[in-house]
Amino acid sequence: IGRHTAKPGRRDKDPFSLTVTGTLALSVFTAVLGSLQFGYNIGVINAPQKIIEADYNATWVHRYGEPISSRTLTTLWSLSVAIFSVGGMMSSFTVGVVSEWLGRRKAMLINNMFAFIGGGLMGMAKLCRSFEMMILGRFVIGAYCGLASGLVPMYVGEIAPTSLRGALGTLHQLAIVTGILIAQILGLESLLGSEDLWPVLVGVTVLPTVLQMGLLPFCPESPRFLYIIRCQEHHAKSLRRLTGRQEVGDMLAEMKEEKRRMDMERKVSIPELFRSTMYRQPIAIAILLQLSQQLSGINAIFYYSTSIFQKAGVQSPVYATIGAGVVNCAFTVVSLFLVERMGRRTLHMLGLSGMCGCAVVMTVALSLLDSVPWMSYISMLAIFGFVAFFEVGPGPIPWFFVAELFSQGPRPAAMAVAGFANWTANFIIGFGFQYVAELCGPYVFLIFAALLLFFLVFTFFRVPETRGKTFDQISSGFGHASPDIMDMELDKPSTELDYLGAEGSLN
Ligand SMILES: *[C@@H]1O[C@H](CO)[C@@H](O)[C@H](O)[C@H]1NC(C)=O
Repeated sequence: IGRHTAKPGRRDKDPFSLTVTGTLALSVFTAVLGSLQFGYNIGVINAPQKIIEADYNATWVHRYGEPISSRTLTTLWSLSVAIFSVGGMMSSFTVGVVSEWLGRRKAMLINNMFAFIGGGLMGMAKLCRSFEMMILGRFVIGAYCGLASGLVPMYVGEIAPTSLRGALGTLHQLAIVTGILIAQILGLESLLGSEDLWPVLVGVTVLPTVLQMGLLPFCPESPRFLYIIRCQEHHAKSLRRLTGRQEVGDMLAEMKEEKRRMDMERKVSIPELFRSTMYRQPIAIAILLQLSQQLSGINAIFYYSTSIFQKAGVQSPVYATIGAGVVNCAFTVVSLFLVERMGRRTLHMLGLSGMCGCAVVMTVALSLLDSVPWMSYISMLAIFGFVAFFEVGPGPIPWFFVAELFSQGPRPAAMAVAGFANWTANFIIGFGFQYVAELCGPYVFLIFAALLLFFLVFTFFRVPETRGKTFDQISSGFGHASPDIMDMELDKPSTELDYLGAEGSLN
C-alpha cells in the first residue's frame, strides 16, 4: 500500500529533500523562540537570588514591621523556584489535547498569553511589594514552558523534511541551553541582575513572546496535523510553502503511509499503559530514564549554582555560573554529533558515570575547603564536568528515547507519563534541594552520586540499545510478541517512524 514510497534509498536521491526554504527556516526559528524562553526561565532565577531574597525581606519588614525569619525566607524562595515545575507539570499533561484541539500553530499562539501574564506578574512584583505575585508569575510561566516543551518539538518535527528531522529537532535543545546562557549573562549585576533592575530581568521574557506572536501568522500550520489529525485537504498548500516546490506528491505519499500506520494501531490510554504486560517494562524504563535526568541533580546546579559557587569560595560566582552555561552549550553541540554514532545506551551510561565521578570529586573538594583553599577551583572544575557529562547523555537522551520505545498507538500516552515524571522530579529538586543542602552541607552531592550510581546500574541491566533498530526488534527485546503491523516494517530504522521523536529537553 504505497509502502515502497518510504524506502530509505529513495529519499537520498531526492534532490529537494535537503532544501531549507525561507518559510521552513522562519517557522523553525519562530517555534524555538518558545524553547529559548523555557531555558531563560530555568536560568534566570539563579544569579539574582540574594537580591530578590533581600526584597522579600524588605517586603516582610514593610508589612509586619519585623525582618523575615531565615526559615520562612528559604521556604518562600524555594517555592518561587520550584512552583515553576508545578506549572510545567500540569500544563505538559495537556499538550496532547491542546495540540489536537487548536492545532500546533494556534496552540503556540495562545500559549503566549501565559508568557505575558507570567512575565507581567513577575515584572510587577517588586513594584507592588508582593512576593505572592512573583510566585504566581513563576507558576504561570511554568505553565507556558510546559506547553512549549511539548508543542515546539512536535511542530518542528512535523514541518521538517525527514532528512532534516533530527538536525532541526535538536535546535529545540540548543535553544533551551542558549536561553539559560542568556539568562545567566543578563543576570550579571552590572547588567540586569541589580537591586533596581531585577524586575526587568524576570519580565524581559515577554520580548521573545511579542516576537513570536508577530511571526507566527506567517508560519504555515503543520501539514501532518492538517492531514493526519484533521483530514483536511489544504495540507498540500502548506506543504508547498514549506518545501518551496509545486510537486509534493512523494511527501504526500509519505504522509498517507504515516496516517495508514496510525489508523491501524489503536490508541492506548494511560491506565492501559500500566495494566498491559506488553507496555509495563518499557514504561518503567521511560520513567526511570526521566528520573535519571532530573534526580542527577543537574537542576540543583542550574537553579542554585551561584550560591553553591559562593559557598565554595569561588571569587566571582556569577562568572563561574556563566562558565557553566558555556560548558552546557558546548557539550550540547558535542552530543548532537555523538548520539547517532555511539548509541544511546553507551552515551547515557558514559554521562551517568561521569556525573557520578564529578559529584564525588565535588563533595571531597567542598569538604576539604577549609584546610585547602585551592579546592575551590577543583569544585568549580567538578561542576563544569558535571554539566558537560549531563549534556553528553542524561540531558538529551531520555526525551527521544521514550519516543523510540513506543510505537504510534501508545506513544502519546507514554510521552505524557514521561513528561509528568520529569516535571515532578524537577519540582522535588527545585523545592527540596536547599533544605537538604542546609542539612547535609557539602555532602549533599553524595546523595546525587548514589542516585546516579543506581541509574547507571539500572541502565546497564535493563535499558536496551535502540539506535538503528526497528520497533519490532525493540519490542521483541522485551520478550513479547509485537503487534502484526510491526512485522511489515522490518526494513525501516525506527528513527524514521519518529516524527515526534525529535523532542529534546534540558531538564
Ligand atoms: C532582613 O533584613 C533585616 C534588616 O531590615 C536584617 O537585619 C535581617 O538579617 C534580614 N533577614 C534575612 C533573613 O536576611
